[in-house]
Amino acid sequence: PAVPVRFTVNGKARALELDPRVTLLDALREHLELTGSKKGCDHGQCGACTVMVEGKRINSCLTLAVMHDGDDITTIEGLGRPGDLHPMQAAFVKHDGFQCGYCTPGQIMSSIAVLEEIKDGVPSYVTADVAGKPALTGEELRERMSGNICRCAAYSNIIAAIADVAG
Ligand code: FES
Repeated sequence: PAVPVRFTVNGKARALELDPRVTLLDALREHLELTGSKKGCDHGQCGACTVMVEGKRINSCLTLAVMHDGDDITTIEGLGRPGDLHPMQAAFVKHDGFQCGYCTPGQIMSSIAVLEEIKDGVPSYVTADVAGKPALTGEELRERMSGNICRCAAYSNIIAAIADVAG
């Protein structure tokens, strides 16, 4: 039987009755008509479905909607809009960080999360020589973005866009 789920999506309170087996991705796409988050693999390997839950990125295909009762969720639709882009969206345009665009919502959500993840200091897994450098390295960005696959291989432009926003 369906169970009630309430969460906030892009600043708006939403209430659904869902089969407990429905993933967060399907809840967003099929029940809330927020189709910006994409279904690439549906099993956690491509990152096209990346959204923010409580400020942290997550593969929405790998988690059940009912597990997010009460959570605050942001999707690509919650960022900018034409004429008023989020800085990361603007940087992807500026650096041509996409070709077909299918992976782009996930890439952008992950990119924003990466900058949040690193803002409080050098992450523990970074090796000593890299950790000694104050600037964000391309190597670190690539590692942190490695969960987001781009079939068109726009990787270098994606990294350039993130680096631009990172400053
Ligand atoms: Fe979720 Fe590929 S659709 S990781």
